Formats: sequence, structure tokens, C-alpha cells
Amino acid sequence: MKKITLTAFVAAMTGLLIFTGCQKDAPLKTLNPNLSQSYSYNTTFYQNALMRGGDNTPFNNQLTDAGANLGRLLFYDPRLSINNTVACASCHKQQFAFADNLPVSNGVNNNKTIRNTPAIINAMNKSVFFWDGRVNSLETQTGLPIQNHREMGLEQTDVLAQKLTPVSYYPGLFTQAFGSPDITPARISMALAQFVRSIASSQSPNDLGMLSGDAQKGQTLFFGKFQCGHCHTGENFGGAPLPNFGPYGGGTIDSGGNSTQLTVMPNTSNIGLDVVYSDQGTQAITGVKTQNGYFIIPSLRNVALTAPYMHDGRFATLSDVIDHYSNSIMAHPDLDPFLYQTNFAQGFVTSSTGQPVRMNISTQEKQQLIAFLNALTDQSLLTDPKFSNPF
Ligand code: HEC
Ligand code: HEC
Repeated sequence: MKKITLTAFVAAMTGLLIFTGCQKDAPLKTLNPNLSQSYSYNTTFYQNALMRGGDNTPFNNQLTDAGANLGRLLFYDPRLSINNTVACASCHKQQFAFADNLPVSNGVNNNKTIRNTPAIINAMNKSVFFWDGRVNSLETQTGLPIQNHREMGLEQTDVLAQKLTPVSYYPGLFTQAFGSPDITPARISMALAQFVRSIASSQSPNDLGMLSGDAQKGQTLFFGKFQCGHCHTGENFGGAPLPNFGPYGGGTIDSGGNSTQLTVMPNTSNIGLDVVYSDQGTQAITGVKTQNGYFIIPSLRNVALTAPYMHDGRFATLSDVIDHYSNSIMAHPDLDPFLYQTNFAQGFVTSSTGQPVRMNISTQEKQQLIAFLNALTDQSLLTDPKFSNPF
């Protein structure tokens, strides 16, 4: 009896040692990227005039194949975290349209993120980032999760540069992307921004004009009776990008990576999820009294893949989301004016008082709306090798 226990104990300890040993070293030992295949990251999607107007590519970080390719390696490299366990791709997973399937995600040392991980979709065409819209440049954005103590925990980004310099393939890849082998925090952010910008989604059944009968009816309801398209607008079914932004609109970024043009905080709204929000959203950034519970209007491209939903991942399914709009919108003082009954019925905004709208979406209408949302899924994005794990 004693012997068995001892054997079991030794076995368990050995397992534990191997396990913890592996956890620490394995990712690094196996980090040999396949560099033989090169991809074209240029996207024709953005030739569309509407999308081009919102292109946020700065003059000084144009998208190149070498830059995006380097960005891809960095995106999948767990060395970007303090203990080599968490990569960008740990939370932004290709199979879930670069979101994940958790309400909040796991960062370094079992820390949870504060908000739901958003999908990365057509970020080239977005004017502001994060759920509260607090950052207006992808070059700035991509540096933040590395430093965030919950996400990747590498608060000193120059330590990261030192960490990558001895890795055999990185100096050469930095030379290809930026003309010299120097690895700096700014270049890491720029390469990541290029890769993130290259993730374009434009091949859904809706894009290809292949809607089922139900999806067509759902589309009519989305833009007509239920006016979802009032907020989920444009090519991305999200907040509209700002015009005159990026190189085509004459925009640029300063040395800190921030847009020199953007002064407003657009595209955020309170949809009455709560009467008292535990996360103040945009208000915590702007200090504007009337922006409590304001969050970004997310793109609905690939939304069928990105459950759970909302800034805190509170809704498990699209059906739950539609139930909210149907009959659960709360009378929050900062509720989007459009969601008051009178305004909604008239299709334009007249007042910010009264009762929240009750859309009373029927079971059949719900099913049709969901069929339309499902038709925004771009399957090709999920398997495109140029966005896949290179290691
Ligand atoms: C531990 C999970 C986690 C990791 C690791 C992570 N992210 Fe995120 N990411 C998030 C969460 C959560 C948000 C939303 C945060 C918020 O709104 O406050 C986010 C937001 C973003 C956004 C903004 C998307 C939008 O449309 O607003 C981009 C782009 C992004 N991350 C890229 C990256 C990159 C690049 C890396 C690696 C350097 C990375 N993320 C690492 C969880 C993560
Ligand atoms: C007044 C503007 C507005 C209207 C109208 C609106 N939405 Fe939204 N929608 C938002 C905002 C803002 C969010 C994010 C809210 C949050 O997380 O706090 C959102 C979130 C969503 C999400 C979750 C997406 C994700 O990635 O988590 C879905 C799905 C959605 N809306 C579908 C719809 C449908 C379907 C309709 C019509 C029945 C609709 N919306 C009408 C503003 C709006």
C-alpha cells in the first residue's frame, strides 16, 4: 500500500516537474518559424472608395509584405510576454476571427482581462480602438497589450527589444521590413500594426451576393423595421470611420504615433444594457458626464464566430443579443437618443426622454436576423495561411 502510494507520488511529482518544466521552455524551443513561404498582404478590398476614405494607414508606416510578415511572427510569438507564455494570438485567435470564445481572456500569470477580446476585422478602416475608443492609432494600440500587466506584462518594452535581438531570424526580418537590423519598441509596434491592418475580411456570403431567403429577409429587417443599420453602418456594419483620416484623406501621425487630426470620440453609444454600469466606458476616458456606459459600436462582420457578446461578454448567443434589443433596453440616463420609442418610430432623433424602445422582435424575425448575421461570416479568413501561426 505504502509502496503504491510512494510510486504514485514519485510519478505525480515527475509529471509535475516535466509539466512545469515544459510549460516554461517548450514554447521557446519550438519557435522555429517557417520562413520559406512568402505572402502578399496587399488588399484590394480597400480600393473601394468608401473604405479608402477611412484608411488609417499613416504616411510613415505603409503596408509592405516584409513588414506584415514580420508583424505576423511577432503576433504569434509568446516572447512578447514577460514569461514567454502569452502571444497576441493567445487571445486573438484566427479560428474566432481574431477574437476568442471567452467572456474575458487569460493574460499572463492567470490574470483576466477587464473586457471581452474584440475581433480584429478590417482594422485598417477604424478610426478608434478598444471598447471605449481611447486610442486612435494602431501604431499606439499594438504597443499597449505588451505593456499591460494583465495581458502580457512586459512593462519595459526596451527589454523586449533586447530579448528579440539574439533570436537568429529577427534582425534579418527587421532589415527586410525597415532597412536596418535595429530592433526597437517603435518598430515592433509598427510591424504589428501592419499585420493587424492586413487582416481584411470581405468574402462573406453577404459580400458575394449569396444570401439565403431567410438572410435576405433578415437584411431587410436589419436596415428597415429594426434599424440596426442606424448604428451598425457601412461596409463593416459598425461605427462609421471618420472621413479625411489616413494618407488618402491627408492624415498623419506624430512621433508618439497619435493622429494629429482626431479630436473627437466618435462611434460610441449606450444601448441600455444596465441602469448602473460597472464599467463606465468612454466616460472614464473623456470625463464627459453624458457618456456613461458608452462603448464602441462593434463591427458585425464575422459576429457569428465571436461569442460571447458585448464589452463584458455578458451574452452567450446572438439570440440573447436580439432579446436585449427586443424587450430589455434599460432606461439609462445616457441611453442613445435613437433608442427612445418616439425617435425610433420616426427614424430620426428628436428627444432624449421617454421610454426605451420595445422592438418586440418575433421568433421568426429573430431567426431571420440571425440568418443575416450568420451571412456576415467570412470562412476564408479563418484558414488563410498568411494570417496563420508561422511557428
Ligand atoms: C490577454 C488577452 C490579450 C492579449 C494577449 C492581446 N490582446 Fe488585444 N485585446 C484584448 C482585449 C481584452 C481588448 C479590448 C480591451 C479594451 O477595450 O479595453 C483588445 C483589443 C485589441 C485591439 C483593438 C481592436 C478594436 O477594434 O478596437 C487590437 C487591434 C488588439 N487588441 C491587438 C493586439 C495585439 C497586436 C496584441 C499583441 C501585441 C494583443 N492584442 C494582445 C485582449 C488581448
Ligand atoms: C443605438 C445604436 C445601436 C443600434 C440601433 C443597434 N446597435 Fe448593436 N450595438 C451597439 C453598441 C454600442 C454595441 C456594443 C455595446 C456594449 O458592448 O456595451 C452593440 C453590440 C451589438 C452586438 C454584439 C457585438 C459584439 O461583438 O459583441 C450585436 C450582435 C449587435 N449589436 C446587433 C445589433 C442588432 C441585430 C441590432 C438591431 C436589432 C442592433 N445591434 C442595433 C449599438 C447599436
